[in-house]
Amino acid sequence: MRETNLTAHDFVLPFFISDKIDKRRAIPSMPGIFQFTVDEIVDQAKQAQDAGLQAILLFGIPDKKDEQASGAYAENGVIQKALRAIKKKCPDLVTITDVCLCEYMSHGHCGVTRIDGEHFQVLNDESVELLVKTALSHAQAGADMVAPSDMMDGRIGAIREALDAGGFADTGIMSYAAKFASVFYGPFRDAAESPPQFGDRRTYQMDSANAAEALREVALDVGEGADIIMIKPALPYLDILWRARERFGKPMAVYHVSGEFAMVKAAVEKKVFEERAAVLEIMTSIKRAGADIIVTYWAHELAGWLNS
Ligand code: PBG
Repeated sequence: MRETNLTAHDFVLPFFISDKIDKRRAIPSMPGIFQFTVDEIVDQAKQAQDAGLQAILLFGIPDKKDEQASGAYAENGVIQKALRAIKKKCPDLVTITDVCLCEYMSHGHCGVTRIDGEHFQVLNDESVELLVKTALSHAQAGADMVAPSDMMDGRIGAIREALDAGGFADTGIMSYAAKFASVFYGPFRDAAESPPQFGDRRTYQMDSANAAEALREVALDVGEGADIIMIKPALPYLDILWRARERFGKPMAVYHVSGEFAMVKAAVEKKVFEERAAVLEIMTSIKRAGADIIVTYWAHELAGWLNS
């Protein structure tokens, strides 16, 4: 009578790849999660595929940051190198790339900024131009799907147009359509070395109080050509997931984010509950609420648990 069953294909595993290290580096706020070098990532990707996973999501940490995020769209950028290496060894593994500027910007914001005394502004259209260049360069390096996580307006349409014009009509777009400004991204910013150096992300990420606005954001991205719609974080926003799924009928992804991961790890460490049971309950709830795809740092373990 069970209505919701998990399989390894439900999960996408995020990876952090750094050009600043020469061997893997543990991330203190995310037990068991590492930054890897480009060389190491190939083996990691192979292991993920062998465990039964179908897709991975790549985040890059460049060796140098600047105010134009040039590492994001460099021919020899960290993601571009990683994609070419992974595709050589694992051609059938679906590679999804995070398209955002925060890891590549010296100020850590997701777009081009203008600073005026105490105030700063993120410039939407200038940022979209750089995001388009980034998405195109990922497609050229072998990405199967790009995942813009910046929350600028109009970027899905602009990226779709550029991919089509560049001969990448088959490259998909997974849009972080409703990304809420959230405390739960804290550990990720350690992992991706992307905390904003001033201000916060509330001018471009969503207010956690707003559901109707989230649905308007989803509608825009659907209209601009997103193939998969993502809601993020996961557990605090399952109502948004459910509503978006009912309203638009698009494939839905959810990102169970770093802070959600760290909370469970902390509870497990304190022996509050058992990890595997907790994780299976969380993932089942997310799928029951309408997710087709769940991005989670437990993807690899889940594949093992579900196959045993
Ligand atoms: C932005 C981005 C973030 C996450 C994914 N993409 C962080 C942010 O917006 O600050 C968070 C993922 C997580 O917390 O696991 N490029």
